[in-house]
This record gives sequence, C-alpha cells and structure tokens, in this order.
Amino acid sequence: MKMSVIGCGYLGAVHAAAMTSLGHDVVGIDVDPEKIASLTRGEAPFFEPGLPELLTASMASGQLRFSTDIADVAGCTVHFVAVGTPQRRDGHGADLTYVDAAVEALLPHLAPGDLVVGKSTVPVGTAGRLAVDVAATGAELAWNPEFLREGFAVKDTIEPDRLVYGVASERARQVLDEVYAVAVAAGTPVVETDYATAELVKTAANAFLATKISFINAMAEITEVVGADITLLADAIGHDARIGRKFLNAGIGFGGGCLPKDIRAFTARAEELGRGESVSFLKEVDAINLRRRERVIDLTVDAFDGRPHGRRVAVLGLSFKPHSDDIRDSPALDVAVRLHGLGADVVSYDPEAMANARRLHPQLTYADSAEKALAGAEVVLLVTEWPEFRALDPVAAAALVDRPVLIDGRNVLDPVAWRAAGWHVTGLGRP
Ligand code: UDX
Repeated sequence: MKMSVIGCGYLGAVHAAAMTSLGHDVVGIDVDPEKIASLTRGEAPFFEPGLPELLTASMASGQLRFSTDIADVAGCTVHFVAVGTPQRRDGHGADLTYVDAAVEALLPHLAPGDLVVGKSTVPVGTAGRLAVDVAATGAELAWNPEFLREGFAVKDTIEPDRLVYGVASERARQVLDEVYAVAVAAGTPVVETDYATAELVKTAANAFLATKISFINAMAEITEVVGADITLLADAIGHDARIGRKFLNAGIGFGGGCLPKDIRAFTARAEELGRGESVSFLKEVDAINLRRRERVIDLTVDAFDGRPHGRRVAVLGLSFKPHSDDIRDSPALDVAVRLHGLGADVVSYDPEAMANARRLHPQLTYADSAEKALAGAEVVLLVTEWPEFRALDPVAAAALVDRPVLIDGRNVLDPVAWRAAGWHVTGLGRP
C-alpha cells in the first residue's frame, strides 16, 4: 500500500520506517526542514535502537522518502496522523494545535475512499470532531492508538502486542487489516472499537501503568519507615498472576514524554466531562511520583548533614529511562538540576542523553564517562538504570570516589556486594 505519515517526530518517524517493514511504500511529512533533512540522510533525530538501520535500508529500497511538502501525499490512500500532543502551557490538558493543523493541511489532498488514521494520543472526543471534516472530503477517519515504548519502538511497532482499531465502518476495518496484514497473520489480537473507546484505551493504559508505578512507590514510602524491603515486597506480590511483576520497580518514578503528560491531560479531560472525581486519584499518582524525586534530594542533602553547598555529587543517568536519549520530564535530570540549584557540585554522565541535557541545562557539569563522573564524588546517585551502570564494579568505583556513599534511585545495584566493597548504600524503599 502507499501511505503517508504526517509528523516525523518520535512516533511518526518510527511508524513511517516500521510500515516499510510491513511491506508498504511510505512518505513521511513534517514541517521541520531540519528533521526531514536528517531523516533523508538516514539519521534519526533521536536515539532509538535499530531505527537508523531500518531508515537506511528502507530508503535504499525506495520504499521510504521524506518531504516537507504535504502535496507529496498524492497517490497515498492511507494517511497516518502522528504529530505530538504536548501538555498545554497552562498545564491543563493536551495541546491539540498540531493535530488540528495536520488534519487541516491534509484535507485538500484527500481523495474519496482514502483513510486518515489518527495515531496521536488525544483527549477522548477528538476523533469524533475530526471525522466530520474528513468525511466532507469523501475520505474516512479511523483512530488507531500506538503503544510503543521508547527504546523498543521499532519492535513494538512491527510486532505490537495488540492492535486497536477505532473505526466507524467495515471498510475502515478492512483497510487497517490490510495495513497490518503481516502482524494480523502472525496472530496479533485486534480489538475493534468506536472512536471514543480507541482514544480511551490509550489514555487508560498509560494511566494504569503510571498508577502501578506510583502504587509501588507509595509502598516504598511505607517500607522505608519500617525498615522493610520494597524489592522483596514487589517480587512477592508480583508472583500473583493477577498483579504481575512488571512495572513494579520502585525508584525515583516515571518521566518521559507520555506518562506524566497523559495522566494530567486525562484529568483535565475528565474534569471537562464533569467526571473529575472518577480520576482524581491520578492527581495522587502524580504527587507520589514527584515526591520520590524529593526523597532522593533529601537523602543527598542528609548525606551532607544538610549542607550540600560545594559538595561533589556524581549523577549517573540523565534520560528518563535507559536506551533512550529523551530527557522530557526526566526524574534523573530534574534531580541533577535541583541539586545544582542547592549549590552542590553536580557532575553528570549519561551514555546517550548528554547532548540534549547540555542544550537545555548548560549550567550543569558533564563528564565523558561514568568513571570521570565518579572521580572525587562524595555521594553517587544512580538515577537511570543503564546497563553500564548496573555493570559497575563496586571495588573499582570505591577507589575513584572521595566517599563511598551510594544512593540507588532505581534499586538495580546489589546492596550486599556494594556494602562488601565498603559503600554506604541507600536504596529507595529498602532498609
Ligand atoms: C510509555 C508506555 O509504556 C507506552 O506503552 C506508551 O505508548 C508511551 O508511554 P515510555 O514512556 O517509552 O512508554 O516508557 P516506559 O517504559 O513505560 O517507562 C515510563 C517511565 O516509568 C520511565 O521513567 C521508567 O523509568 C518508569 N518506570 C517504569 C518505573 O519507574 N518503574 C517501573 O517499574 C517501570
């Protein structure tokens, strides 16, 4: 099939490339000429494992091209809308400017029978509104939310664990079946819904994941008062198949471009719908999440007897999670910036996110390696669980620092081994 993807940010660039893997011819459209130039060179404007290889292969085979000109969607019969829906500046709800602009730009180029497929995460009710304008051209709208995780985005798109088709006709369902024929043939479950349900599936899934993380972090607040161990508690409750162990890792909490903004947008939308109380717990989820960052800062300040000014802190990790250079709403970066604001001498290192962090926070000090960040440190914070930090040798690390004090904000290092090497170790929610 010939298809277009409008918006070549994280979601769109991955989606465009992944669709070629499913056998389609794709044109990716974006208003940002720099982004298009970079993608056309086969370079992803962000770090995502496997994406550069896929971009290069798809462009070499002629299945993928990029353009800033929306008229280049000519000849495509399926048009994905994959633009961002950031948090509004006033903090209330999602900013739909880009979605509205993308659909409006697309309208004059639609032919009767075309299918416009929304992938962006939108407040419930958006698809119903856009469907009217799309229908006026003789084309049709479907809503097909994306559940990809950063760091696994290519695999999640090519081999999704489920497909959700928010459709208003049998024909739209058939077109989506054709788009995802490879995944459907491999047995991927398909859930066919109306527009509103499809929009809500995405919102509800992210709200659930955020709630699960904040639940375990709330338990961590209790375990750390009574000297219990949150990781053992998570293991034990996680063995209950109804609960499951995934997303029960306590630590400094969730960040990124999705979970934080999506729970806030959901709260705002529910309030608009007169059902604010139904999701008022999400405000608590958000608050618990933000308190975990405070906890790491408090622990660090305590390690300096309340006087962090001029004291050396090594911050390992800046991205919101490993295998990503994304620093949007990153707990790790937030902690680094706030400790710097308290006067601490913060030296950070991250394998992929330093260029992004440096652009946003040139005031911070960045080291070229974990070892250089550790040199002379009086407190070490592990705040993003990159494999290379998990693999650190506690004996070698102890020889680099001034004081062997470790705060493991992700509970990934073995406290027994680190203590045996002379470290004073604090895990979040652990004795
Ligand atoms: C999330 C959803 O998982 C994905 O389905 C959706 O499409 C987009 O939002 P992503 O933002 O890429 O994906 O990251 P995810 O792997 O979900 O992690 C989110 C945050 O939660 C990270 O900061 C991570 O460190 C944190 N987290 C995750 C925990 O603190 N504990 C856990 O147990 C799991």
